[in-house]
Amino acid sequence: MNDLFSMAGERVLITGASSGLGHHFAKVLAGAGADVALASRRLDTLQELADDIRAEGRTAHCYAMDVLDAQGVEATVKAAIDDLDGLSVLINNAGVTETVGFVQQSKESWDRIIDTNLNGAWAVARAVAEHMSTAGQGGNIVNIASVMSFRVAGHLAAYCASKGALLQLTRSMGLELARYGIRVNALAPGYIATPFNENYFATGAGQKIIARIPQRRLGQVGDLDGAILLLASKASAYMTSTVVHVDGGHLQSSL
Ligand SMILES: NC(=O)c1ccc[n+]([C@@H]2O[C@H](COP(=O)([O-])OP(=O)(O)OC[C@H]3O[C@@H](n4cnc5c(N)ncnc54)[C@H](OP(=O)(O)O)[C@@H]3O)[C@@H](O)[C@H]2O)c1
Repeated sequence: MNDLFSMAGERVLITGASSGLGHHFAKVLAGAGADVALASRRLDTLQELADDIRAEGRTAHCYAMDVLDAQGVEATVKAAIDDLDGLSVLINNAGVTETVGFVQQSKESWDRIIDTNLNGAWAVARAVAEHMSTAGQGGNIVNIASVMSFRVAGHLAAYCASKGALLQLTRSMGLELARYGIRVNALAPGYIATPFNENYFATGAGQKIIARIPQRRLGQVGDLDGAILLLASKASAYMTSTVVHVDGGHLQSSL
């Protein structure tokens, strides 16, 4: 049964691997047997992670990539394909947020969030899907969505818009790419403790949100292990265009 979730032989590109969820996903997937390509803007952090993964006997390559740089995305995907001799899985995880009122938000702030979480995710997925469809061996793309793909919260309009659109992108890609044997699904975490949100959950407002999660606690990165292994492995062979929620029940919190 354990073989069902094995990542042995899989060649996985993980964006946003320098921190938080992406950093953890890289360790989990390499631990299950994958060889990995790690991409984000901060190369030094990626190199430390790659050293840890290599020490466990897996292959790991690092790339300084900014998803806002279209040419850089294309070059990174190409380099990862060359270095790993192809890509079979993409964990499309890089993302940013900012807590700011709708009226107060500047265009620069709005653009940074939409460009990173939606346009950047699209650019990486498009380049990877082009390779997978041309190579003709199928593939698997996991977009990291959010509870905010489904619900909204104050002062997060750009983030909610970006993650709602990423979910629709996931569904559209899954529909269109199935003919190439490429599966596309989303993982929608609730609030998971990472550098992304640590300042917010230390505030009174953050504590109030935790009190509204049915399980009454923040998620930890390890709470996503089962879901990322399910979606990244062949255990989800008949799943595409869908979403897995891991949120302590938050999506169903009482109105
Ligand atoms: N934590 C949560 O509660 C939660 C819940 C639901 C969904 N998510 C989603 O999970 C993903 C990871 O979030 P996290 O909590 O792990 O946040 P995090 O710790 O801040 O990590 C974000 C990652 O994205 C990378 N990144 C940001 N902008 C980038 C850019 N322009 N180009 C390339 N990489 C970029 C960062 O790397 P560099 O700075 O090195 O570039 C970093 O590795 C995001 O998509 C987020 O929306 C998080």
